Amino acid sequence: MWYLVTGDLKHFRTGDLMDNFVINGVKGASGDISISGSKNAALPILISSLLTSEKVEFENVPKLRDIQSTLELLNYLGKKCVFAKNKFTISENHSLNYHAPYDLVRKMRASILVAGPLLARFKQARFSLPGGCTIGVRPVDIHLESFKKFGASISYSGGDVIISAKRLKAAHIKLKFPSVGATENLMMCAVLIKGKTVIENCAKEPEIKDLADCLRLMGARVKGDGTSTIEINGVKKLTGVKYSVMPDRIETGTFMILAAAVKGEINLLNTSSKNLAIVSKYLRRSGVKVKDCANSVKIISTGKRPNPVSFKTAPYPGFPTDLQSVWMAYMCRAEGKSTIHENIFENRFMHVGELLRMGAKITVTEETAVITGVDMLKGAPIMSSDIRAGAALIVAATAASGKSTLRRIYHIDRGYDGIEEKMRAVGFKIIRRKG
Ligand code: UD1
Repeated sequence: MWYLVTGDLKHFRTGDLMDNFVINGVKGASGDISISGSKNAALPILISSLLTSEKVEFENVPKLRDIQSTLELLNYLGKKCVFAKNKFTISENHSLNYHAPYDLVRKMRASILVAGPLLARFKQARFSLPGGCTIGVRPVDIHLESFKKFGASISYSGGDVIISAKRLKAAHIKLKFPSVGATENLMMCAVLIKGKTVIENCAKEPEIKDLADCLRLMGARVKGDGTSTIEINGVKKLTGVKYSVMPDRIETGTFMILAAAVKGEINLLNTSSKNLAIVSKYLRRSGVKVKDCANSVKIISTGKRPNPVSFKTAPYPGFPTDLQSVWMAYMCRAEGKSTIHENIFENRFMHVGELLRMGAKITVTEETAVITGVDMLKGAPIMSSDIRAGAALIVAATAASGKSTLRRIYHIDRGYDGIEEKMRAVGFKIIRRKG
């Protein structure tokens, strides 16, 4: 599968749709793993290129299927994306299209983020309702209701949402839930709307701050990112930018938990645990050592069964919903019972059925899972249902006895850059098999 960009294409290959992982359980793993750029920060940052007609350059963009989908969408909208020397250059040679069609949008929910920039620049945006992971209904009402506050009207035609405005006005918006995507979409719209926009109860995730840092370098006037109130003073136009995307905190957290599940010392490079304080705290409580450095984090584990640790997922700085499934896989071998409440998405326990097939003991009642640790999981044929469910099954399979075959790993390719090479380098037994 190749990226729809010109340049050094050989660096940007992801897996094919029918690939499987064959994973054999291991007792231990040690060594260094380098963490890639953040998927959830790179997606809005690439999309922010729609806010300017000037050339932008982005580094530390991960090699992922979701990045590929974003580039396809940007190409369709009229941007030219070139990849060379580990850097994306995005430029605009002619006028942009403001319609994001179903075939491109259905692959990834973050596609809705084109709405804010297109509305800001062209006073209109048309897009099909987005697809993505099967982790819940995932409405976009917060995005749409907020666009109305900017003076836009919303209509529907042929399965598309059409947002348009004669004139956009700055607004005071209070979100009913601190939605990450809605905060990013509104920020990217408000930066070009004259006057002061205030977004209250906005998301505080570090990826919001990364987008704000990039927008500021493009000339935007944004304050308060990282807190629950963001203030934006609109400017007439944004300029080109050179920006390097932050490290992926969810990839970091996944590898921290994977390292904790087996005996050894794994050092994660080009990242830190500063945005993962709660995960570090719970890992320590589970019985492993976490050594924080400025540009790395090391996990030292005896490989013994962990202590049970319970939690509820919550918006940042709470325990990230994106690591809930991965933590559950870790707790399957705990010395006792743990409880996990999923508070962000209503259908995010799809991995439970697969873990049960490996010998886990888990009961689910609505949004609560109770996990009774067992001595050992057993390898089995298993299947990913979304990005993070796939990561959880990798954790379970590496700490299990025997062989597991993990299908539908195209979900994992959406969110983890070269996961099997990184794992093999520290001693895990995982190979990609063509389906
Ligand atoms: C982003 C992340 C995703 C993470 C999630 C929560 C990206 C590309 N994805 O997704 O990995 O799991 O944050 O941390 O950054 N909601 C509504 N109406 C809306 C918008 C959201 O009801 O208009 C609900 C959702 O259904 C969900 C909750 O709010 O239950 C959180 O969603 P949101 O924060 O918007 O997540 P995403 O931006 O889609």
